[in-house]
Amino acid sequence: MNSINKMSKIVLVAMFTFFVQSVKAQSNANSILDWTYEHIIFILAALVTILALSALAYVAKVTFGTYENEISGGAEMSQPVKKEDGFFKKLYNKSWNLIPMDREKDIDLGHDYDGIRELDNSLPPWWLYMFYITITWGAIYIYIYHISGIGKSQIESYNEEVKTAEIETKRYLALQSNSVDELSVVTLSDAASLANGKKIYVANCAACHGMEGQGLVGPNFTDKYWKHGGDIKDLFKTIKYGVTDKGMQAWGSTIPPTGIQEVASYILTLQGTNPPNPKAPEGELYEPEAK
Ligand code: HEC
Repeated sequence: MNSINKMSKIVLVAMFTFFVQSVKAQSNANSILDWTYEHIIFILAALVTILALSALAYVAKVTFGTYENEISGGAEMSQPVKKEDGFFKKLYNKSWNLIPMDREKDIDLGHDYDGIRELDNSLPPWWLYMFYITITWGAIYIYIYHISGIGKSQIESYNEEVKTAEIETKRYLALQSNSVDELSVVTLSDAASLANGKKIYVANCAACHGMEGQGLVGPNFTDKYWKHGGDIKDLFKTIKYGVTDKGMQAWGSTIPPTGIQEVASYILTLQGTNPPNPKAPEGELYEPEAK
């Protein structure tokens, strides 16, 4: 009995470890399943703790409980009142299903180890039920992750992550490879680039700088005054790094360098267009050097 007990404990611990590892391995696969996993682990852990504590309490009671018996044994004049057990007491008794001390000799296996006897107690129901729960859970796990295809296996989620990483790497390299920067940028004048620049402008910038560059929250682009310089290199720099404390975002992480070059070139075509409702000039006068 003892060795069975020990073995089952080892099995339980092994299953537990397996669960914890699968939670870690599957952490990206399916959030709802993962959620259940994590919480099942916590619930089981809490149950084990509670039951272990109650076991301790039981041992303590058995060990030190004689004192109580002596007292009640001494009070012979009063009939022992048979009190109905409360819900928790009943639950406790059910979950342990212990043979009362006075019937222990019925389950004595007759082994005597230096005065320590072995009892053939049945496995405590609380433990057995947890064991059944873990078996059921194991079956559910196998079904979900290995048979039904609902959950992704470790190799599947790994492959998926690799694929995502490859796409991100490609995107990153694409951003890096078109390597115009604030030192090398020149104004573009071809229609295709300017059309592209306008597209970027309308989508990202018009909300603050106005559809026609007349200025709204952000400065007017149609006058000759600039807060951060009116050269293409200045514009490129402002757009790439932003003026974040003044509400102008750093676009370098979302617009690739060629895009910034295109939108900056487009902005420069707005110079002197005189749209209605212009925002008052801000910054310093900038006159492009005559080439
Ligand atoms: C959320 C509002 C907002 C958006 C969107 C925005 N900007 Fe700005 N932008 C500003 C503000 C505010 C300033 C002024 C910063 C300052 O006061 O220094 C500014 C400044 C600038 C300047 C410098 C102007 C000067 O006078 O030197 C440029 C160039 C510029 N933005 C381009 C762009 C481009 C290109 C986009 C789109 C990709 C864009 N902005 C989107 C708010 C915005």
